[in-house]
Amino acid sequence: MKTYRLGEIPGDGTGPEVVREGLKVLEAVSKKSGFSYTTIFYPFGGEHYLKTGETLPDSAIEEFKQLDALYLGAIGHPEVKPGILERGILLKLRFSLDQYINLRPVKLYPRVWTPLKDKGPEDIDFVVVRENTEGLYVGAGGVLHRGTPHEVATQESINTRRGVERCIRFAFEFTRKRNKNNKLTLCGKTNVLTYAFDLWERTFQEVAQEYPDIKTDYAHVDATTMWMVKNPEWFDVIVTDNMFGDIITDLGAMIQGGMGIAAGGNINPEGVSMFEPIGGSAPKYTGKNMINPLAAISALQMLLSHIGEEEAAQKVEEALIKALESGKIKSMSAGQMGLTTSEVGNLIASLV
Ligand code: IPM
Ligand code: MN
Repeated sequence: MKTYRLGEIPGDGTGPEVVREGLKVLEAVSKKSGFSYTTIFYPFGGEHYLKTGETLPDSAIEEFKQLDALYLGAIGHPEVKPGILERGILLKLRFSLDQYINLRPVKLYPRVWTPLKDKGPEDIDFVVVRENTEGLYVGAGGVLHRGTPHEVATQESINTRRGVERCIRFAFEFTRKRNKNNKLTLCGKTNVLTYAFDLWERTFQEVAQEYPDIKTDYAHVDATTMWMVKNPEWFDVIVTDNMFGDIITDLGAMIQGGMGIAAGGNINPEGVSMFEPIGGSAPKYTGKNMINPLAAISALQMLLSHIGEEEAAQKVEEALIKALESGKIKSMSAGQMGLTTSEVGNLIASLV
């Protein structure tokens, strides 16, 4: 029997509550699918930072490299200045483990409310492949004459041929493997970002030659947001840079039912990957047993699929669908589910 070693970083706010439910489902499905695992707990997050001054030590990164995957709750603390934990923990994780793909499925499940009128599960089912280690996120830039009328601030988008190509290549492979509409859309801004997206577009077209079975398309990012609302059924897989991917996946989360159900994976196909609910630490709901754990449970499903437990991943998704179809979960919003966080976790665990 295979034994996986999983790192668990519950983090801040409601993170621990949703991770707990995810691990409950993991326990249930591991028994059904016949694999075993150990979890290694890591305390990193805002609370830990306030107590110790430590964000994420390099020694932890080295330990993470020995794991099969990481499972993250949420990072963010109202008493910590914005930027410290994001850069010091979340982005440091993504960058130092070279998790160059941020994979974010946008899938509307049955009986989940979407703000899009006249759209249903058959219309909203696509995946965003977001580049996760470059672009505006690298922190390149600087400031001159800060606080004076002559202040200058620059923030550069770094796009390397290698970084862009590996992301695009992943997206083509993923589209082929998904085998839904076999269509990959590049989302960019070639009309304004004439250096960065020229590189993206040329690379996209070159790599496309190797995938004659995949239809290609291009949409500017502004138009992409428009189509995501008006005709989400046009999309199968979207590939885009870090910043655009960040923005359009929040819109994606909303049309699939909200942050309560949106999950993502930070993937290094050759290394260690990390799976997380897209939503934040939700301080307002912390400790109230009110937060929706479905996003964390979906993240667990992605984790299972990534480590090769495809059957277990499918069981988790089927359980999730069954639970939603039962109508027992009234809403995706915290405090309005009609069930507590742990009741939702129990329900899914009982259905796997
Ligand atoms: C996300 C988040 C992060 C990002 C923040 C918290 C740094 O918004 O995972 O999408 O911008 O990538
Ligand atoms: Mn974001």
